Amino acid sequence: MPLRTRRRPPPGPTTGTDALTLESVTRRYRRGGRDFHALENVSMTVPPGRFLAVMGRSGSGKTTFLQCAAGLDRPTSGTVRIGGTDLSRLSEPALTRLRRDRIGFVFQSLNLVPSLTAGENTALPLLLRGMNPHDPAVRERALRTLAAVGLRDRADDSPLRLSGGQQQRVAIARALVTDPAVIFADEPTGALDPVTAHEVLRLLREAVDASGHTVVMVTHDPQAAAWTDEAIFIESGRIVAHENHPTPQTVTRRLAGPGER
Ligand SMILES: Nc1ncnc2c1ncn2[C@@H]1O[C@H](COP(=O)(O)OP(=O)(O)OP(=O)(O)O)[C@@H](O)[C@H]1O
Ligand SMILES: [Mg+2]
Repeated sequence: MPLRTRRRPPPGPTTGTDALTLESVTRRYRRGGRDFHALENVSMTVPPGRFLAVMGRSGSGKTTFLQCAAGLDRPTSGTVRIGGTDLSRLSEPALTRLRRDRIGFVFQSLNLVPSLTAGENTALPLLLRGMNPHDPAVRERALRTLAAVGLRDRADDSPLRLSGGQQQRVAIARALVTDPAVIFADEPTGALDPVTAHEVLRLLREAVDASGHTVVMVTHDPQAAAWTDEAIFIESGRIVAHENHPTPQTVTRRLAGPGER
């Protein structure tokens, strides 16, 4: 079983070879004078080269999961490891560097910079890493990555001149350009029509199959989950099930199960 969900961390030290590991991760908020668990004792492992769907109803804890797993939020307790590095041991600057160097992000809201071209948006993570904007290798790498998402010929256009689906493809190129260990995507097809969503999912699938990337994708959509290798289901902040090779039918059945808060 490639992805393991478990209630307790394994005994002894964990090896550094998994792309992503969560051990007993809890994220608590104060709400109405009481503690509220947005994520409770979540443990799981994703090996490299996997496409994982994180599913669950609205408010179940998917975004909280993603933000803790990607080092955008710090869990109240528990351990997150990316490629073997324990995020809780990192200072803020070191965590920022890890996100910059080893993680790619694709969000539902595209957050491309409108005053930059598609090519410049794609190159941005390379510049944040300290590469010189005038270094021809930067443009060459951005163009190669844009070509991989079918947008080589739109490199000099502003995102404002691209369709929603094309913008999402630029966002994927931007996530891929640094060759990150893990790509986290929160509802990357949420705002897209079915045909464009299909195209975006095909690109993420290709990133896994052709380049060995690891993709962790939050989605509500059973059709989107069917592109992944494995789905985990979150309910009230806990992983309640996981499924290899999910299909739209099996996922729909699970999501239609007993409700939550
Ligand atoms: N900063 C916060 N303070 C208090 N409660 C929060 C905070 N962020 C999230 N929550 C709560 O944690 C729970 C999980 O939220 P989360 O955003 O992870 O859900 P989700 O599964 O991503 O939902 P959706 O599908 O609607 O995006 C919700 O009940 C939410 O209200
Ligand atoms: Mg969410």
